[in-house]
Amino acid sequence: MHAAKVTPDQIRAMKQRGEKIAALTTYDYPTTRLLDEAGLPLLLVGDSLGMVVLGMPDTTGVTLEMMEHHVRAAARACPRALLAADLPANTYETPDQAVQSARRLMRAGAEAIKAEGGRAILPQVRALIGAGIPYIGHIGMLPQSVHQEGGYHIKGRTEDERHCLLADAEALAHAGAFAIVLELVSSPVAAEITRRLSIPTIGIGSGPHCDGQILVTHDLMGLLPWLHLRHAQPLAQLGRQIIETARQWQQQIQARSTSANVS
Ligand code: KIV
Repeated sequence: MHAAKVTPDQIRAMKQRGEKIAALTTYDYPTTRLLDEAGLPLLLVGDSLGMVVLGMPDTTGVTLEMMEHHVRAAARACPRALLAADLPANTYETPDQAVQSARRLMRAGAEAIKAEGGRAILPQVRALIGAGIPYIGHIGMLPQSVHQEGGYHIKGRTEDERHCLLADAEALAHAGAFAIVLELVSSPVAAEITRRLSIPTIGIGSGPHCDGQILVTHDLMGLLPWLHLRHAQPLAQLGRQIIETARQWQQQIQARSTSANVS
């Protein structure tokens, strides 16, 4: 028998029960099926898609059409996990645009929407939640602003940044977000936000005290062996396994052609 579909309320309730939330990104049908089989409660079609699947230098060139295409593929797996999706850069400049873009991703199969920013995008967040769209916040390092930020840096190391992050987190929670991703937030500040909010924090490179952790699946699985990230130690070496398996396949084929030539 299939376990019941995970809802935003259930993700929220995991914090109340003190149950840690493990989340991963997904971009296609087979990966979504495999990760869902593992029993994770939350899967995200992240705009990291641009970097880890499409070979782009960062996430700023990801379009809504690209996201729709991959959300549709992931949704075809009909996961039990809640399937969230990122609004890509430049698709939520106004409240109206945010709602229209989010509706396109929901029609493609997303069940919750994440967008980057705190108080700066509060009108968009209120519009999304007002339109009945389950919303996940994302504060700290914002990859869609990597050019303005001049790289990927830890946030929350100064008193100003700490203050700003706390105010952003509280504003998003107050607006009705059901969870907040904290990306590259200093561990003590992530712990403080986690203590203060009643909704779960889901960290990435933000220390161990968040209510949950999310990783890019390719980083966890070692699918990009040329990358070495401080915040993500691979638990598997699937990239190396792919290379090795392809080599074995080539050797088998070459062995066959040699014996065919001999006979
Ligand atoms: O796009 C992404 O992969 C993200 C991370 C926080 C997981 O947003």
